[in-house]
Amino acid sequence: MAINNYFSWREISIKQKIIIDTDPGIDDTMAIFLALNSPEIEVLGLTTVYGNTSTDQGTKNALRILEIASRTDIPVYSGAAQPLETEYTGKGEFVHGHDGQGNTNLEDPVTRAATGSAVDFLEKTIKENPGEVTLVPIGPLTNIGELFIKNPNIGKDIKEIILMGGNALVQGNATPTAEANIRNDPEAADIVFSADCEISMVGLDVTNQVFMNKETINKIVNFDNPASKHLKKIFPFYVRFLSKFFNKEGMPTHDSSAIAYLIDRTLFKTLQYPIVVETAGISRGKTWMGTGMDKTNNNPWENRRRVNICTEVNVEKVIDLIVERIGS
Ligand code: BDR
Ligand code: CA
Repeated sequence: MAINNYFSWREISIKQKIIIDTDPGIDDTMAIFLALNSPEIEVLGLTTVYGNTSTDQGTKNALRILEIASRTDIPVYSGAAQPLETEYTGKGEFVHGHDGQGNTNLEDPVTRAATGSAVDFLEKTIKENPGEVTLVPIGPLTNIGELFIKNPNIGKDIKEIILMGGNALVQGNATPTAEANIRNDPEAADIVFSADCEISMVGLDVTNQVFMNKETINKIVNFDNPASKHLKKIFPFYVRFLSKFFNKEGMPTHDSSAIAYLIDRTLFKTLQYPIVVETAGISRGKTWMGTGMDKTNNNPWENRRRVNICTEVNVEKVIDLIVERIGS
């Protein structure tokens, strides 16, 4: 595996321990491969959630992805099948196929999910590694919301939550106001944003900017390794849908941008404001920044920690990083 020049050997030797909470999902798949191919990162486990596909299908996909990457040593825990207060709609299948993998009908995995719940695994792993584990949710935030419901003080032991989701200064993608992961479970997302821990939001403000054109996609899917070969099968469905949505050929880079932020946050610029998630009306799922202008009582952002909200990104370098790592 090639090690790029972002980090010295010493920094690489102190790997960042992460758990990826995922709804795999075509772009989730690339993000998982990216994390697995990055020497700065140690993936402690995958937890699954509904979203791009059902939780059962997503769990199968997660296992299959790890088999393709020859990393079946990493456990997969199946998580929430429904949002906290509403029902899973299955709408993500328009974008990711009925199997969450672009209708490629993968063989069933030979490995099995670990026994026990995703939330118990998250809690146990965080407690065993206090202050060391970064959670990287790249799907709806139901599992993470449930973790805080179960253990409201767990935030002090979490190193950071780096989540793909939300839209601060740009419009949504699931609705004009809301991004898909947050829109799938705004109640859970609001619990997460009210937590007492470091949170970074890698949302549509930057992930839509990291737009991969046809040339970049061709590079990513033509390496001679199993990850690249798998992406070659699953990308066409996603690219067809998103090209129509964006009216140009290619696709935005949502989930992999969260992994890129984890690897090198100098590639991003952030604003620091607390976030409240709207749970009612036409802006249900909108991540509203509290800019400190509201000095009235009952300010909804009061007592919330500031979130690192990504608003600018070095597009070229993020894309170079992803291409290099998928090729390694
Ligand atoms: C997010 O929604 C899902 O479709 C993608 O996997 C990504 O996590 C983008 O809004
Ligand atoms: Ca996702």
